[in-house]
Amino acid sequence: EALDVMVVGSCMTDLVSQAPRLPKAGETIHGHKFFIGFGGKGANQCIQAARLGAKTAMVCKVGKDFFGDNYIQNFKDNGVNTDFVGQTSDAATGAASIIVNSAGENAIVIVAGANMLLGSEELQNALPAIKQAKVLVCQLEISPQTSLLALQMAQENKVKTIFNPAPAIPDLDAAFYRASDVFCCNESEAELLTGSSVVNVEDAHRAGRELLKRGCRSVVITLGPQGCVVLEAEESASKHVPTTAVTAVDTTGAGDSFTGALAFYMAHYPTMPLEEMARRANRVAGVSVQAVGTQASYPLRKDLPAELLQMPTIVCT
Ligand code: RIB
Ligand code: NA
Repeated sequence: EALDVMVVGSCMTDLVSQAPRLPKAGETIHGHKFFIGFGGKGANQCIQAARLGAKTAMVCKVGKDFFGDNYIQNFKDNGVNTDFVGQTSDAATGAASIIVNSAGENAIVIVAGANMLLGSEELQNALPAIKQAKVLVCQLEISPQTSLLALQMAQENKVKTIFNPAPAIPDLDAAFYRASDVFCCNESEAELLTGSSVVNVEDAHRAGRELLKRGCRSVVITLGPQGCVVLEAEESASKHVPTTAVTAVDTTGAGDSFTGALAFYMAHYPTMPLEEMARRANRVAGVSVQAVGTQASYPLRKDLPAELLQMPTIVCT
């Protein structure tokens, strides 16, 4: 049966410490809580799409270790197809050391491990499923060549692509832009990619126009509490999509919640305007920042107001 959303990307075990602030170099500080969670940008996006009701599959690699075994069970528990989840004894499951401060901000170090061993062979195995999927999503926590190849395979087969260039690299291969139907990044990634600062909506409009010129079909730049800006190649206007204010407890993985939700909307409501999908994805991500953890904070369908899960109704009189 055809899939809605396929994610080719990373899995990480998140090792999270909550502390009043982020430590300085050489400093030891007391935190007040530690927990282990399921993370990695690719898997996060896949889990959020699945929780909204998308039929999903993950193409990834974990280690033949305790964290890897647990991760596969996590996919199963969330109804994600694991036919293309590989396990290797050549590297450990990816891990992320995360510190969250009292403002809900974070600092993260990732050790990608097994994620870097996902390559073209695994993509070839997944090709029959990719061809039939509605949307394919990639990020940059696996080898960039693998991400690019996956996007190109999808595009050749008329599968819609979402590329989230995270974590961003300064000299991103121009082919990534051409392979992206939606190029979706946050303000700091937009800044790194364009080389000019992005701190407000005006900057985001400018950065968005610059990224659009590089050949993607549309650009979404997320701005946290300021919502996002949306630009489409066919339309001249760059649109600001504001969002409702929430009190952030933990913003880790909020961007992934947004991207996963966007993938769900693109698969389920292909005719919905991109700005409406972005408005709804903002609301989904807004729920995630109000609870601790990454995937642990991602809402399910049943946790969301019905208006976020229906096509706007047209009333005939
Ligand atoms: O985007 C958030 C994610 O980044 C975390 O889950 C962590 O694993 C890192 O990959
Ligand atoms: Na959260």
